[in-house]
Amino acid sequence: MKALFKLMLITVNVVAFTILPVKAQEDYTLPSYSSRDGFVPVVGRGGMVSVRETIAAKVGAEILEQGGNAIDAGAAIGFALAVTYPGAGNIGGGGFMVIHKASEDKTVAIDYREMSAGAATHDIYINDEGEIDQELARRSRLSTGVPGTVAGMALAVEKYGTMTLAQVIAPAYKLAHEGFEMYTHLELSLARSQERLGADPAAKKAFYKADGSTYKTGENFKQEDLAKSLKLIMDDGPSAFYTGSIAEKVAADMAANGGLITMEDMAAYKVYEREPVMGSYKGYTIATMPPPSSGGVHMIQMMNMLENDDLKSKGHNSAATLHLYIESMRQAYADRSLYAGDPAFFDVPVEKLIDKEYAAEIRSRIPMDRARLSSEVAPTKGLNAESMETTHYSVMDAEGNAVSNTYTLNFGFGNGKMAAGTGFLLNNELDDFDHLPYEPDANGNISGKANAQEGHKRPRSSMTPTIIFKDGRPFLATGSPGGGTIINTVFQTVMNVVEFEMNVAAASSKPRINHQWMPNMTTIESGVSQDTLNILTEMGHIYNAGRRTLGSTNSIVYRDGYFYGAHDPRSMNAATIGIN
Ligand code: GLY
Repeated sequence: MKALFKLMLITVNVVAFTILPVKAQEDYTLPSYSSRDGFVPVVGRGGMVSVRETIAAKVGAEILEQGGNAIDAGAAIGFALAVTYPGAGNIGGGGFMVIHKASEDKTVAIDYREMSAGAATHDIYINDEGEIDQELARRSRLSTGVPGTVAGMALAVEKYGTMTLAQVIAPAYKLAHEGFEMYTHLELSLARSQERLGADPAAKKAFYKADGSTYKTGENFKQEDLAKSLKLIMDDGPSAFYTGSIAEKVAADMAANGGLITMEDMAAYKVYEREPVMGSYKGYTIATMPPPSSGGVHMIQMMNMLENDDLKSKGHNSAATLHLYIESMRQAYADRSLYAGDPAFFDVPVEKLIDKEYAAEIRSRIPMDRARLSSEVAPTKGLNAESMETTHYSVMDAEGNAVSNTYTLNFGFGNGKMAAGTGFLLNNELDDFDHLPYEPDANGNISGKANAQEGHKRPRSSMTPTIIFKDGRPFLATGSPGGGTIINTVFQTVMNVVEFEMNVAAASSKPRINHQWMPNMTTIESGVSQDTLNILTEMGHIYNAGRRTLGSTNSIVYRDGYFYGAHDPRSMNAATIGIN
């Protein structure tokens, strides 16, 4: 008997040994699996999710496996991240979702950006000395806009999903109500933010134990108040949030703590379904986020500027290519400072900014042998600093639907405040307004006006959730956090795929750069060769290299019947899951 068992084991091993290389051979020859790039994407046939946090990624994958479409999965991930990744996942913030619904051959951009209170004005953060009070702008209730996430997710599911809102919230509710195992990254984030979050009684109750200590990795972490809020939304829909008891709690908290948001403001919140801003690049079609995000417009502007350059022959991240990137970024961000804002308040010249003739003209101003000074490109004031804490996820399903979603509280954990009993953090998104708007200068520049705070206005964003199409089907879904750097991160990721033909894992991993016109400084991630840096120096570029990372993408490519996905090696605890 023993001998027979031994023989069986040997047989199984031999069979496995002979079968495995054949399977590997098949996988290896998948059409777009290009191992020359040195990085390997996740592969699936039935759909894919790529998310910054693993538990929420599993929620999205389960929804797809249960037969939900990409939009159902996208909304479920949005609610799940509000529980499992409270630094940026949220129901107290807002964002943007680009959706492609295959059966309708329709692509839409959902704007669920936060909105300022009706009583807000451009100078609410300006102190007696005429300076910005950063405490007010970033860490007070005055920095909070009416949250848009609940309205945005609800619209997406109701119009483009197949499941009910309650069904897509259910996994998040379970995670909040029953708890999940504290994971190391969240434990460390909460420990790092303990002073700030611990100073707010409701946030302290939500995120720390009764004795004030942090939950340790592996311990069960429940969020009862958040579970109650999610249950109210499951039962009563978005009205629970905007006109019901959640709105009452938020308005009472604002009134008691110097905030401006009233019940009327909560009720006045509108989610917009917008036409995506559309562009093209060498046969690919780009659908991305229009204003009030500046992301889509300026990414397309940069791609237009470079469409007629043979960057591939110049080389990826060569000095010549990086020079063109920097000069394109310099121009795009100069224009952005003048023209990007809420289209309901300011006439953003989208068509002009994404016009190919305009792009050719500004491209022709780039000298190939030297860096320009930023003041040569547009002499105007600089931009205020923006936070880096946002999160992006991408989903595709087998029917050809796609979701590219970026949302945020602005700073990690928003302003660190929470209305008692709600269990969710408040955003500090209104810091994205320009706080020192000024009248047109001698050159007619009107920087700041476009993005000055007014009642019920949305602050300019940089979020760039994007879907690139090839032959009419979503080919690439991508996006990133990173405040003002988002546009450049998404731009380079897209260029890596469509111009340099990298697989999506390589495209996500290569070193990136960032220039935002003012200050005249390029950030260059480590990994760009010293030779290249030396040439950039000779050309007059000013940069810091190897000091920080830029962005954190979650991307999916569909090609020839396979989904290929990758989360960024720059992010901890992210997951990309392929459905078989
Ligand atoms: N708060 C970051 C952004 O909207 O771009």
